[in-house]
Amino acid sequence: MTAINHYLQFTDLSASQYAYLFDRASVIKKKFKAYEKHQPLLDRTLALIFEKASTRTRVSFEAGMYQLGGSVVHLTTSDSQLGRAEPIEDSARVISRMVDLVMIRTYEQTKIERFAQYSRVPVINGLTNEFHPCQILADIFTFIEHRGAIQGKTVAWVGDGNNMANTWLQAAELLDFKVNVSTPSGYGVDEKVASITGKINPKHYQTYTNPMDACRDADLVTTDVWTSMGYEAENEIRKQAFAAWRVSADMMAVAQANALFMHCLPAHRGEEVDAEVIDGEQSVVWDEAENRMHVQKALMEFLLLGRLS
Ligand code: CP
Ligand code: NVA
Repeated sequence: MTAINHYLQFTDLSASQYAYLFDRASVIKKKFKAYEKHQPLLDRTLALIFEKASTRTRVSFEAGMYQLGGSVVHLTTSDSQLGRAEPIEDSARVISRMVDLVMIRTYEQTKIERFAQYSRVPVINGLTNEFHPCQILADIFTFIEHRGAIQGKTVAWVGDGNNMANTWLQAAELLDFKVNVSTPSGYGVDEKVASITGKINPKHYQTYTNPMDACRDADLVTTDVWTSMGYEAENEIRKQAFAAWRVSADMMAVAQANALFMHCLPAHRGEEVDAEVIDGEQSVVWDEAENRMHVQKALMEFLLLGRLS
């Protein structure tokens, strides 16, 4: 049996495969904007499995797959046997006999890995507690669209050392840029999770106690919710711990003059970001959200058909 191309974390693809995907996403986006049909996945079916809530991930995969000529089956924990303790291995064996591709949003990364191990078809990570690779794929594509290559650039991460932070760090090592990270004490990145080797080269990762210092001279400032899905019980305590980790106009002012602001969304204005920043001129959050669809179309096409250009 040939190996199946899963996309479970950012490191599952190489720098040269990312270069291809960014070019391809740009071609696919142009066709979409021109109302030009692009249906390489005619008659293919994508299963979307959500164990956590979603707006962007669902709409971008669902609309994207229809545009590629395929169709979609949507499952959640509450309306499938996944919520009634059917083993993930059995679910994988069954679902992957009927569809061509599976996207899963779930809790532990080990759960998606177990699903992939028993799947006959490629599995895409639509967010786990540890990683959110499709989002970083969209974010880097958005950076490239606005500012050109990300290699050698500096990204400031302000906030929780969460799935998004981990994935930014994987991308920094792979695509050769730097992430300045500032988190409240006790909410730092776990390098064993985030790094390819277990220890990230300081060329790609530097930590700062003060978020203002992390933003200094950055080409991109980015943040995320203080409380990720699955951690809601910690909400009140996190609100106190994270109070100084709100991206403000002052933080943007110490970054490069042409620095961009990104947020994977959903956002909480007045918590992790001030309204004047997310709604301000440096913010590219709406492009970032739209680009989820374009990059994921390129990704689905690549996982099923390989390089087409
Ligand atoms: N950014 C993102 O993944 O959004 P959803 O939770 O709405 O899918
Ligand atoms: N870190 C957030 C991202 C949401 C898209 C979460 O996991 O809830």
